[in-house]
Amino acid sequence: MKIQHLISALLVFSLLIIALPLQADEKEDAITYRVRVMKGIGSNMGSIGDILKGKVPHKNIMVNYAKSMNESAQTVATIFKLDTSSSKKNTRAKKEIWAKWDDFEKKSNDLIAASANFVTAAESGDMKKIGAAMKELGGTCGSCHKAYRVKK
Ligand code: HEC
Repeated sequence: MKIQHLISALLVFSLLIIALPLQADEKEDAITYRVRVMKGIGSNMGSIGDILKGKVPHKNIMVNYAKSMNESAQTVATIFKLDTSSSKKNTRAKKEIWAKWDDFEKKSNDLIAASANFVTAAESGDMKKIGAAMKELGGTCGSCHKAYRVKK
């Protein structure tokens, strides 16, 4: 009987030794992943900005970047859901994200709505609408970053 207890204790112990680093890896992978997706959103924003500033003459394809951003925006809540606050590596995410999850999710919904609105504006080709939609869209980035991203 005693030897059986010892064996199961050893089993649990070895499982823990295997599982703990896996858990740490899971968080680091989630951080790397979400930062990459956010950079993609930033990249779409940059492409749209260059077009709006007239640096490149691609107004007719601006809507592609807008749609791409809206697709990524729809994934933000999902990719931030895992609480990584115990992992401080390569992340600017504040732990408040998971303490105030409903508000973070609301802000990610604001991004979805504003980027969808920007798609409609871009499709209209109306520069007044595009300008207003861009301002609203930029506001949703700033509002979430201010609350939930550590300043550089
Ligand atoms: C719902 C909240 C939220 C919204 C909305 C949001 N972001 Fe972020 N973003 C974050 C958080 C949090 C991080 C930090 C992630 C990390 O480091 O783990 C981040 C990181 C980034 C990064 C990665 C590089 C860096 O400096 O950390 C870029 C680029 C970025 N965001 C751009 C944007 C742009 C552009 C928009 C709007 C179109 C936007 N974000 C909207 C929360 C948000």
